[in-house]
Amino acid sequence: MAREPIPRAAHPRARRFLVPALTGLVLGLAAAEARAHGIPPRLATVMTEVGERFASLGGAIAARDDDLARYQVRQIAEILERDMVLATPPRPLYGMDLEPLRTGFRDGPWRALQNAVDNHDLGAAVTTFEGAAAACNECHRTTGVPFLTVPGLPAAPKASGKTRKPATKTSAQPAPSAPATTKSKVESTPAR
Ligand code: HEC
Repeated sequence: MAREPIPRAAHPRARRFLVPALTGLVLGLAAAEARAHGIPPRLATVMTEVGERFASLGGAIAARDDDLARYQVRQIAEILERDMVLATPPRPLYGMDLEPLRTGFRDGPWRALQNAVDNHDLGAAVTTFEGAAAACNECHRTTGVPFLTVPGLPAAPKASGKTRKPATKTSAQPAPSAPATTKSKVESTPAR
């Protein structure tokens, strides 16, 4: 009695893995497609996450929790870099270009805070956190939501003596904790 050749026996087995694998691949591609071309997140949704993480970051800085602070800095940096770009702004802001505001925040007050935390300089993190919070609020004023106020550090931590004022001072630097209403105090001199 001749033995049946067995190579075909591999097929059902291969199919058992191949079919789900291909199905998964197709579904995965479809999901990626949907993400790429589907409904982008609303800016308010993205902002809610920023707000929660920023508050957590403040708590971590106040508690001198270096690991948590660095974790939240990384999370917020990714949101600033990716999610915020994709997000749909609210209808009143449809005609407004938010890009300069986003990059200005990212490259200014945010970068200062990120550097302080990344360098494990929690003293500088205290100062720059307040600056970043003020800058969050500055953007909220600019974009017509001035009532959305981002608080500074939860509790004034004991002065460590290592706290330093940031060395860089740009004209766009917001005044921490100041209401920042009248910035320009132009005194016109009569041309006489
Ligand atoms: C590019 C300008 C801009 C920057 C920078 C910015 N925001 Fe916002 N934020 C907005 C706008 C615009 C809204 C309102 C969105 C809407 O009306 O749908 C908002 C809304 C919010 C909300 C309310 C979300 C809700 O609907 O519950 C929170 C919280 C918030 N921002 C936190 C922050 C924090 C914290 C920072 C700084 C780390 C920050 N934002 C920086 C523009 C900005």
